[in-house]
Amino acid sequence: MLQQYEKLKKVLSSAKKIVFFTGAGISAESGIPTFRGKDGIWNKMKPEELANFNAFLCNPELVWDWYQYRKKIVHEASPNPAHLVISELQNYFDEVTVVTQNVDNFHNRAGSKIVYELHGNIEKNYCISCGKRHDFENLVVGEKVPKCECGGLIRPDIVWFGEYLPEDAYSLSELAAETCDVMFVIGTSAVVYPAANIAYIAKRNGKILVEINIERTELSGIADISLIGKAGEILPQILQLVKEEKSYGKN
Ligand code: OAD
Repeated sequence: MLQQYEKLKKVLSSAKKIVFFTGAGISAESGIPTFRGKDGIWNKMKPEELANFNAFLCNPELVWDWYQYRKKIVHEASPNPAHLVISELQNYFDEVTVVTQNVDNFHNRAGSKIVYELHGNIEKNYCISCGKRHDFENLVVGEKVPKCECGGLIRPDIVWFGEYLPEDAYSLSELAAETCDVMFVIGTSAVVYPAANIAYIAKRNGKILVEINIERTELSGIADISLIGKAGEILPQILQLVKEEKSYGKN
């Protein structure tokens, strides 16, 4: 592990553009459950009943209950040291981009300025009839299934199974993967596509891939540096390395 940190220190000393590609594992230490594994959400719930447009049309109340429940957990929790370090690293590199599969809004709350959300954001909603946005509103008050002024059902702005990713977020993420110096892949099983492509695009373009995870994943075989452990513990150590190396701030 020490060797891996030494390698990383060298890589970061000349890096200017960093991408952090994150998944549910980065929020695990904030108390947000991940999707796969022993205690994963998809081990207890059926995605086809909750994260699916047809399910929403058949039973919007159930789907809204589920998202309100998840929203409550997110509101009661806070970004952890991993999110906060990523934000702080903006002071040390020319460009820090976050590409996240998470919908918990934690990277924004932590202060990261460039955040591409590939799977949506639990704080955002839109009308399925007219497309009007209903962001950051408390839509539950007084009604279980919120409706737009036009009469249409309002849905969470989350990418459900079988749906396309937001085009802009995906193409900007691709560009960031192609043009960065280093990509950190943190807390993702990297089995959900097309999101997982982002890491492969970086690798194909000759970028250094650094994986942080509590266990090996689909990506471990192609990672240049692999740091096994909790994101909330490893990222503060990386910040320390960067501070030692770049004691005068941005290059
Ligand atoms: P997963 O639940 O598939 O994977 C979580 C990963 O985080 C695993 O590889 C864990 O080993 C790792 N992990 C857990 N705790 C960690 C910690 N403290 N530090 C570092 N790593 C940790 O979650 P995702 O890969 O994000 O999509 O799942 C991808 C998508 O599948 C989600 O965005 C979601 C889901 O269906 C939608 O909802 C559209």
